[in-house]
Amino acid sequence: MILQGLLRSWDGHCPAAESRVSVARITAAASPLFAQLTLSGDKSVSIRRALLSLYTPDTIRLTNFGAGEDCETALRCLVSLGKRVERGEVFVTIKHRETVRKATLDCRNSGTTARLLMGVLAGRDGEWTLEGDESLSNRPMERVAQPLRTMGAQIELSPGGVLPARLIGRPLVGTDHNLTLSSAQVKSALLLAGLSANGATRVREPFPSRDHTERLLGLAQDADGWWSVDKSNVPDATLVLRGTIPGDISSAAFWAVAASLVTGSDIELKNVVLNPTRTSWIRSLKNSGADIVERVERTTAGEPAGSLHFKYGVLRPLRITTQDVPGLIDEIPALAVLAATIDGESIFENVGELRLKESDRLQAIVEGLAEMGADVSVTGQNLHVTGGKKRKGVKISPNHDHRIAMAFALAGLVAEGVTTIEQAECAAVSYPGFFADLKKMAENSVTLSE
Ligand code: S3P
Repeated sequence: MILQGLLRSWDGHCPAAESRVSVARITAAASPLFAQLTLSGDKSVSIRRALLSLYTPDTIRLTNFGAGEDCETALRCLVSLGKRVERGEVFVTIKHRETVRKATLDCRNSGTTARLLMGVLAGRDGEWTLEGDESLSNRPMERVAQPLRTMGAQIELSPGGVLPARLIGRPLVGTDHNLTLSSAQVKSALLLAGLSANGATRVREPFPSRDHTERLLGLAQDADGWWSVDKSNVPDATLVLRGTIPGDISSAAFWAVAASLVTGSDIELKNVVLNPTRTSWIRSLKNSGADIVERVERTTAGEPAGSLHFKYGVLRPLRITTQDVPGLIDEIPALAVLAATIDGESIFENVGELRLKESDRLQAIVEGLAEMGADVSVTGQNLHVTGGKKRKGVKISPNHDHRIAMAFALAGLVAEGVTTIEQAECAAVSYPGFFADLKKMAENSVTLSE
């Protein structure tokens, strides 16, 4: 398929097929889940590699590019910015088409695309408008715009600090950013802006968030925690080209939770990103007694990658500390569902950021789990989930939030009665084959309808 001008829908297995599923009904799994899966490329890594093509006129070829809609969104934005994108079964090829100086970029549901593009475009000659869907148009953008302005960027946000945003590319000046929030999107936007700034740009964050951008740019962190970037770090296209993008570690987490929920389960995943800044959920589950074997087998696309093997086991309550949160922020909905089945009180510290994701995930977790009969509360920024009680199937309307839809689908595997997930097609934002894979593992417990 050639994506030029307007992008057409995907071929084959992914979003098109899944987007026909609009309601998923789940009942308790009567037998263990067994599966061996290979996941499509990690969303964060795929989007970054795609956006880096904007720094070179050379042709970029990416292997195992993420299948989700957010990854497609990044490709669509590249087309609007003058690239020609060809998408086959395995490869995505990105070529220079024309120089564009003015564009409106529809970032749809993808916060990563929007925020990273702000960094890329701030120093790029031209006039740019960034917009998004209803969910993205409610998410805070000042956290990126404000530090970019200190570098000389001209960015106008809509009232309330949200999209649509208007950027006029300006010469940027390298600046130090000592962030008070650990956000990989903010950090990456600043580092990407630093690639076109005069002088060095340095970024430091309180606790480590995912470091995919730093790896792609070949950066090293100094002893005081600063990442530093300048024009000399613009990557060589051949470097960006190297290696297959390993499978999505955040999608993998759903299967770890599924295996920990259903007695006797055994699920293996091949070639997943095993970057330590993304695997704190594995460490937390293991601390609670989960049977997880993680094997780093290679480095590909600058990322450690390998297999994961999850087996059922009885767990102790989870204890997620402030320091863990940036590394597992996207996994909290699934971990909270798991916590609701564990005897005792699990605590997730300082998870206020969940309110600012694709939906207010803290509210969705609290309301959904409470309705299912779990004992769940928020004190300050901390989430408390006490499991042990029987949970009952309920209807979940996930506000078009992919991770809420998938997390509560798993809750249905161990609830009494039927759990109905509405808007199930939203899983395609990150994991288009999720419900199909779930049905393969639990054929008699999962009914999918349009
Ligand atoms: C992401 C960073 C995280 C995460 C998001 C992907 C990234 O967001 O929640 O799904 O690819 O950089 P924040 O930077 O807002 O924490």
